[in-house]
Amino acid sequence: MLRVVVLVSGGGTNLQAMIDAIKDGRITNAEIVGVFCNNRGAYALERARAAGIDSCCISPRDYKDRQDFNEAFLNRIDEWKPDLVVLAGFLVIIPPKMAKRYAGRMINIHPSLIPSFCGTGYYGLKVHEEALKRGVKITGATVHFVDEGTDTGRIIYQKAVEVKNGDTPEILQRRVMEQAEWIILPKAVNDIANGLISFNGE
Ligand code: GRF
Repeated sequence: MLRVVVLVSGGGTNLQAMIDAIKDGRITNAEIVGVFCNNRGAYALERARAAGIDSCCISPRDYKDRQDFNEAFLNRIDEWKPDLVVLAGFLVIIPPKMAKRYAGRMINIHPSLIPSFCGTGYYGLKVHEEALKRGVKITGATVHFVDEGTDTGRIIYQKAVEVKNGDTPEILQRRVMEQAEWIILPKAVNDIANGLISFNGE
């Protein structure tokens, strides 16, 4: 059984997609052993509770400086002894020490086709606003390994999604989630759990 820890900051629909996929057998050989969240109000925590998954919520604001937070954060993740760490809408910058420790064992879902609309500052609705501003006709989502950069790690899966006339950032965000994110993230976890993708991404 692959021990998976999921890091979240918000609604947690991608977390839910993985919980559901484990329940209905689209993900096998994996269990979510912990959910880490930096935001007490996040609905993702409710989802973890409802699924009976252990969770922990600490925020940088609870610590005197970023270094103290980073240490507590990394210790908490280590305690779960994860084989795989999944960033699913996690808005905290991953400390370099953590990126090194979990190199090849940490993945992220990004709501665009990398290398478009990614990197520093591209998160949440901003990604979709910029895609609409640029007038692209196709966008999508990417699952990739996490390295020390922002959205620079090796790509695992991508799925394209059509942009339609009249789309708002909110409508496009929802379509990208439904048609891409909630499909390729569980698939990546399943494929890692079953040895179809090796931890270093080959
Ligand atoms: C998703 O669009 C994900 O790609 C991005 O943040 C959003 C998180 O949504 N990184 P949710 O919390 O999984 O509902």
